Amino acid sequence: MKPTVDLERLIEYAIKAPSGHNTQPWHFTIGEGEIHIHPDFNRALPVVDSDNHALYISLGCAVENIVLAASHYKMRADVRISQKDNEPHFITISVESDSTIEKDELFDYISERQSTRNEYTDKEVPKRDLKELKNSFEFEGVDLITLTEESEIDELEPLIIEGSNRQFQNKDFVKELVDWFRFSKAEAEKKGDGLWIKSMGLPNMPRFIGNIVMKHFVTAKSEAKRWKKLIDATSGFALFTTAQNDIAHWIRLGRSFQRFGLTATKLDISHAHVNMPCEELEVRKELAAKFNLGSKHPLLLIRFGYSEPMPYSSRRDLEEVLTNKKGKTHG
Ligand SMILES: Cc1cc2nc3c(=O)[nH]c(=O)nc-3n(C[C@H](O)[C@H](O)[C@H](O)COP(=O)(O)O)c2cc1C
Repeated sequence: MKPTVDLERLIEYAIKAPSGHNTQPWHFTIGEGEIHIHPDFNRALPVVDSDNHALYISLGCAVENIVLAASHYKMRADVRISQKDNEPHFITISVESDSTIEKDELFDYISERQSTRNEYTDKEVPKRDLKELKNSFEFEGVDLITLTEESEIDELEPLIIEGSNRQFQNKDFVKELVDWFRFSKAEAEKKGDGLWIKSMGLPNMPRFIGNIVMKHFVTAKSEAKRWKKLIDATSGFALFTTAQNDIAHWIRLGRSFQRFGLTATKLDISHAHVNMPCEELEVRKELAAKFNLGSKHPLLLIRFGYSEPMPYSSRRDLEEVLTNKKGKTHG
């Protein structure tokens, strides 16, 4: 059965997905009853994400939004990984109407979700909500452990600081990060991507001042101090692991993380990334050893707790990311 709405409408939800540095490393094509999500390697982050795992996790987040939006319109969505002629892998989502599909309530939180990077209060997340977060997804080869005990957070903190130190001592990392900073609302809206500094809790400023601040005032030492404060105020951490370190697992991890973020949003729980120990490979090994992860790969570390919302980040328009418009239906 044909889809019940234009597939473009589903892509409008996909582009609200989170992505590393808000690069939005995707473009979409529409075929007969299917959406293709392609990686856009012009938007890759070669320093912080040299194997593109975060890029494919971001695509997985966009996939999950499409699946949720399809359920809202009573459509079945089947996801598979595709590849043509040795070109990079992309994702195909086949969509068809199915009156038996029930709407997934997480759909309602897609627009409200955000990465909230401010300091959280010291209120604990109740056990019932922790359980709901843990059970928010079920995908083969993806697991989540939550770390909420003081002793566990004490074990984690030095690894976060070690990861942060390594990154802020690396000029290439800082350059790549600053290239994606948007120093004013106007710049963020014009480009429609990147990290608007106000959504990270910093005031707007001209780019040349921003560059001076990043060069002379934001150092490994000042970041470590800032992180210690944020860690102290965090109710808990969610560490996502995969059984294999490959594209299929990265995409499923993205789908899992998106469901986690939407569930947190539903529960009024803020969340934000603390990925440094996962991104720095030597520290990732230490992390796996410290928390007895065996052969699992710890790829995302998220803090969660309670705080006020922050300003939202920008997105590029549908027209910029949809590279063909075949397959329109009656809508
Ligand atoms: C795979 C992945 C990795 C990310 N890594 C970081 C990170 O290391 N630090 C951070 O502050 N945010 C990180 N983010 C959050 C993005 O910066 C955020 O999703 C993006 O700026 C869009 O903002 P939003 O989530 O509020 O819509 C990551 C997101 C994804 C999907």
